[in-house]
Amino acid sequence: MFGSAVSRWTMLHFGAAISCFLLAQLAMISGLAFPAAPLLAPLTLATVHLLTIGWLTILMLGALHQFVPVITAQGAVARTSALVSVLAILAGLGGMEAGFVALDGVLPAPTILALPAGGALVLGGVVTAAASLGRTLWQTRPLPFPARFVAVGLVFLFAALGLGMLLGLAFSSPDLVRWSGAFTDGLRLHLLAGLIGWFTLTAIGVSYRLLSMFTLAPEERGRLGTAVLVLSAGGLAATWLLGVGEAIGAPVTGGVVTIAAAVTGLGIVLYLLDMLRLYRARRRQKLELNTRMTLPALAALAISIMGVGYAYASDFAEPVVGAVGYLFLFGWLSGLGLSQLYKIVPFLTWLERYGSLLGKQPVPRVQDLVDERRDRPWFALYFAAVAAGAVFAALGWTMLFRVAVLGHLVATLMIVRALWLVRQGAPRAAAPLVRPPSLKAGTQSLFAANPTTTE
Ligand code: HEM
Repeated sequence: MFGSAVSRWTMLHFGAAISCFLLAQLAMISGLAFPAAPLLAPLTLATVHLLTIGWLTILMLGALHQFVPVITAQGAVARTSALVSVLAILAGLGGMEAGFVALDGVLPAPTILALPAGGALVLGGVVTAAASLGRTLWQTRPLPFPARFVAVGLVFLFAALGLGMLLGLAFSSPDLVRWSGAFTDGLRLHLLAGLIGWFTLTAIGVSYRLLSMFTLAPEERGRLGTAVLVLSAGGLAATWLLGVGEAIGAPVTGGVVTIAAAVTGLGIVLYLLDMLRLYRARRRQKLELNTRMTLPALAALAISIMGVGYAYASDFAEPVVGAVGYLFLFGWLSGLGLSQLYKIVPFLTWLERYGSLLGKQPVPRVQDLVDERRDRPWFALYFAAVAAGAVFAALGWTMLFRVAVLGHLVATLMIVRALWLVRQGAPRAAAPLVRPPSLKAGTQSLFAANPTTTE
């Protein structure tokens, strides 16, 4: 019964995403990408898209296939469409990578066509996933608070992909997109839609649900939560539309764009304050490792926001922009991703393995599938290495930066090993079995309060 509540292809998404994450880190260590190469060098672009599409987008879609039916209390989880979607995204990403490498002159020039063609396939895969997620969200109006961020995030994902396609065509077939004029120079809009709109707004929504649940804090966020949603999503939509206006030659003054961007930033700052409020209001005092490790990720978001201000003041100097982008991708988004995987993978495994035994016999607790004491130092190494890497990138110390990346690659590998052991292994031998009350059949229980997850 509980098996049916588990999204069948979510683990495949996670495995594919982690493989891309490891590959991207290897590329950085080998000196193919920033800071050894310029930020917009073809191989840096190839590495960045391994991270943004291969790692983060696939990870988030995999999690959403499980998460959206839960927060909307709808029964259906995506089945074949989730498999088709992830395969199309992976195939498309392969094409995009070939196109970027061809831009570097390593592959024959016509291969550059694989860049927009791959982008189109990625778009097709995302449309397939979003159709299923969107249907579930649509059936749940009015949307629960966290799901509103997810819905806005999906809209921005399409904006990022659409502009990515145009940028790709501008490289491979400029004649085809001459009509699009200034849009082919729309990198800023592409980044805003992808990094803030898709990743950050979705992560904010998901974190509201997960953190209130894992800390036993109130999920209702009141006026502050509404302000976070309105300011971050509204401010970003305004910034983006004003950018589009600028691109088509509308009379947009720079000051208005700055105000809209500042409003977006204010929304994110309020989110960070709300997270502090949530931690203070928590009823669970002893937090699990995945929840504790959300704190350095949130700190990385806070420092990145300040870093954007500093980058603005330094006239967007490349080392500063690169360091902020690196901290944002590895500290905030990847740090949050890894820490949540450390809970989601055991939880899904537990549901698959013990869901049907609930109420019939004693079972281990979810957290007994992992060994927090063993894994804690690897999370510490991960975040320490990212912090050092950001400093080295800002200072332009390329060799030390690569050493720092090696540090977080080792940490990632050890965390992945822990997840692999969860999938393969038995619970910790010394862990006591507990007899939780049976969960209501049909309740989609991943991320729902569960007696076996409490200390
Ligand atoms: C979730 C989706 C995406 C995200 C978050 C994303 C993110 C990014 C980022 C961060 C950069 C800047 C990289 C750097 O400075 O080194 C970038 C550039 C670029 N992206 Fe994407 N991207 C996405 C999808 C796509 C797609 C589907 C394509 C289609 C081929 C694409 C094509 C490009 C191109 C061509 C550039 C370089 C533009 C230039 O140098 O002017 N992106 N993207």
